[in-house]
Amino acid sequence: MTYETILYQVHERAALITLNRPDVLNALSAPLIGELAQAVDHAERDDALGAIVLTGNEKAFAAGADIGQMKDQSFTDTYMGNFLHDEAERIERCRKPVIAAVAGYALGGGCELAMMCDFIVAARSARFGQPEIKLGTIPGLGGTQRLTRAVGKAKAMEMCLTGRMMDADEAERSGLVARVVANDQLLDTALTAANQIAGYSRVAVYLAKESVSRAFETTLLEGLRFEKRLFHATFATADQKEGMEAFMDKREPRFENR
Ligand code: CAA
Repeated sequence: MTYETILYQVHERAALITLNRPDVLNALSAPLIGELAQAVDHAERDDALGAIVLTGNEKAFAAGADIGQMKDQSFTDTYMGNFLHDEAERIERCRKPVIAAVAGYALGGGCELAMMCDFIVAARSARFGQPEIKLGTIPGLGGTQRLTRAVGKAKAMEMCLTGRMMDADEAERSGLVARVVANDQLLDTALTAANQIAGYSRVAVYLAKESVSRAFETTLLEGLRFEKRLFHATFATADQKEGMEAFMDKREPRFENR
């Protein structure tokens, strides 16, 4: 499959999707988001792959939705066209873990795209922000919701109302990113984590992702019940037997994803 706005590669058992519109800091155009959704579908269907890494380049993960493409749209255009949302929802629905590897700017829709992923690994150069207020609009791909859940009301309000950017260290301190690494270690770190995940029981990985994700959608009591059921369900899998037997036998497990 060939793409024009992204690159798609496979590294062992992980797909690497690279946003590739460097002239406009990887601004999220409709074609780019469309190709990204197709690439996620492709990786999801490939049984050899267990996780996905999404990245940009050294200067930008993505500097937001494409302002040139958006600026003349009417309310009806954006509403009826569901601007960028159908494709974004495809990424949110992905069952395989998706890691965002962020260097440089992750602004507006770029920050929101990173937050759609399951976790973010950031290079020291990373800058996160929701600057839509400066353009006379507001975040539209989850910024007011996911950023608030990640960093709390005070910082989310400040960022959405002033457009201030957060650097990588502040983002890590605030809970937005999982780890900060040297710029030249970014891809290695993200791909190593993706391949580590891909080496575990895929059933357990999907269940763990589903259960953590549920924490954002339900009460603590319901979430705990949900987790308990999924935990019990793992005991119906061959991989749970293999994982625990291998531990007792002091050997590496051989998971078969069943
Ligand atoms: N859309 C379209 N083009 C963009 C862009 C965007 N979001 N961000 C950058 N570009 C383009 C610039 O127009 C410029 O193009 P030219 O070379 O043709 O002039 C090129 O990328 C390089 O950008 P700069 O010259 O501006 O680079 P810089 O280093 O001086 O500044 C920056 C970098 C601070 C990120 C600045 O580019 C910037 O502020 N970009 C816009 C960020 C933004 O407002 N994002 C939110 C978009 S709205 C949104 O995302 C809505 C939503 O929630 C869905």
